[in-house]
Amino acid sequence: MVASTNRDISPENRRWHTVARIADAPAENTTQRTVPKSQIDSEDDIAMEVLVESRVVAVFRHAGQWFALDGMCSHQGGPLAEGVVRDGCVTCPWHGWQYDLATGIQMINQQPLQESFPVRLVEDRIEISID
Ligand code: FES
Repeated sequence: MVASTNRDISPENRRWHTVARIADAPAENTTQRTVPKSQIDSEDDIAMEVLVESRVVAVFRHAGQWFALDGMCSHQGGPLAEGVVRDGCVTCPWHGWQYDLATGIQMINQQPLQESFPVRLVEDRIEISID
């Protein structure tokens, strides 16, 4: 499977999905993920797995930038959000395939095997678009 994401769609014409809220404490009566503001304010990397319209998506903050990839590895479905992130790449925890966080390109064969998605922060929300 060769991944593709239409990066030509302007941000205002995309459908954005809130995947997490940034807050000091989880909101009551919601199942939505909360990312502590202290974690957002830190320099630390962040990785989380979210569901967007039944798709598993791995969302990362690495080196101060946000990325989102299909959360199931193209090899055999390993959980990329549980992978090691280093130097702009995530390594799948199951068999070690590596993907560029920004493009989803598999680092050995240089093919775009993992779909990537735009991420943005809006006020207290982390949003991605899977259009
Ligand atoms: S499932 Fe990811 S490398 Fe095999």
